[in-house]
Amino acid sequence: MLLQSASSLIHEPYISTIATSLILILVSRVYYQLFVNALGKYPGPKFAAASRIPQLYHTFKGDMLEWVSGLHATHGNVVRVAPDELSYATGEAWKGIYGHASAGKPVTEKDTRFYGPSFNGAPEILRSNGPDHSRFRRNFSHAFSDRALREQQSLICGYADSLVDNLHRTIKEDPKSKINMVRMFNLTTFDIMGDLTFGDSLNLLAGTGNTSWVSAVYVSVKTNSLRRLARYVPWTAAIAQRFIPKELKQQTVAHYQASQERVDKRIDGNHTLQKPDIWGIVMSQKEDLRLSRREMYANSQVFMVAGTETTATALSGLLYHLLMTPEKMKIIIEEVRGTFEKDSDMDMRALERMTYLNACIEEGLRIYPPVPVGLPRVTPDEGLLVCGEHIPGKTAVSVHHWATYRSAQNFRLPDQFIPERWIDDEFATDNKAAFQPFSFGPRNCLGKNLAYHEMRLILAKVLYNFELSLLPESIGWEKQKTFFLWEKKDLMVQLKARK
Ligand code: HEM
Repeated sequence: MLLQSASSLIHEPYISTIATSLILILVSRVYYQLFVNALGKYPGPKFAAASRIPQLYHTFKGDMLEWVSGLHATHGNVVRVAPDELSYATGEAWKGIYGHASAGKPVTEKDTRFYGPSFNGAPEILRSNGPDHSRFRRNFSHAFSDRALREQQSLICGYADSLVDNLHRTIKEDPKSKINMVRMFNLTTFDIMGDLTFGDSLNLLAGTGNTSWVSAVYVSVKTNSLRRLARYVPWTAAIAQRFIPKELKQQTVAHYQASQERVDKRIDGNHTLQKPDIWGIVMSQKEDLRLSRREMYANSQVFMVAGTETTATALSGLLYHLLMTPEKMKIIIEEVRGTFEKDSDMDMRALERMTYLNACIEEGLRIYPPVPVGLPRVTPDEGLLVCGEHIPGKTAVSVHHWATYRSAQNFRLPDQFIPERWIDDEFATDNKAAFQPFSFGPRNCLGKNLAYHEMRLILAKVLYNFELSLLPESIGWEKQKTFFLWEKKDLMVQLKARK
């Protein structure tokens, strides 16, 4: 009816003229992308070269990882994944794309379409570019320095001990308890980051805190990833908004509000703390480096995502792979239990020196990188030299973590969990420089040292105190979707206290 009345209003010749024009526009766009655009020489599916539809489809489906690594397996180290975007799976690209500025080479900027704005629109360290980013980086680097980490050591150790106590309590109550280690690692990294960020415990391991915040963090990451559709194709904003379930939106708001309330409590409480939390260090900075309150809210939210989900993911993935390879688990347990007489002897320096433990952590980050996707940067207007080739300006470029670490060109037996590759000459041919799980250059991970310390300590304490076995329902755990970060399944284990 509606179409009939519409066509009766518009004369037929007009309809066919409009249709022909639309087809011509479409054909000329496709022709331009395939044969005129300078990126036309790069391999990849023609549909992806002509349109962003395939990339967004796989973003929504949660299988971007398989899609991009499949493209690299078919087409090689550089693939055109969208009309203006190249993905790399080679270590040589790190320097060109993410490296420091040098003569004639500017620093690339983050692709704002990929990251989106912060929740309250204020700039923060992860998303901002230019002077804002430098201000934040200079400001926060003190709070993440080696010195600050040494001062934070007993705080971190206290939460690792709480994890062990919590696990002991659970198996004492019921020795057959099925324990979800993803959740336990999440509670631990949350408690640590909560205390470092807000100077106050969230009491999650103690069992008295509000754990809904933990799930809200991943939800906020996933929602942001789904909102990407509207950022790449602005006219779809209303549609994209409808696709996101109400519950996801509510949890995202809850996560932001929780961070905001904690910041207010910390700043307005104005309590001088004995422990060196981030805001204590930030507030003692020079005037020109200070942050506005809205920037504090936005940055706190970044810390509560970047500093929790990632480290808990690394620990979960590593534990899974150790449980799946009992011969490797045996070696690491012997090293941990052989090095320390009692678990209170574990400290930062001693843990740093443990060869096998550290090799396992590297291998865990390679085989299951917490940030598995490519993080796109935009080339400057004048273009950029990447792997010896000039890439035109305004092109999005990234190194795809997963595809790079699982490429047989970079790592021998890439799909196998082999901690020995980080120790033995047998794997000397591995391209270790291709492995950058914390990214590379001036925007690399600010919390890298903290993350390593947490991972060593938490893993060593768990392995020192318990015998763990994987429950059958968690075999195949690593097959998961990704929405920027992994959508982790429960990792179910049974524990026995060590005799
Ligand atoms: C195993 C654990 C971790 C991994 C694998 C990891 C990985 C990364 C990666 C790949 C980036 C680059 C992001 C980008 O280019 O957009 C990054 C940035 C960042 N990470 Fe981590 N991260 C981890 C733990 C942490 C922790 C514990 C913190 C503490 C708060 C943290 C704070 C940050 C911050 C603030 C940035 C932004 C740095 C900047 O742009 O200057 N991360 N991280």
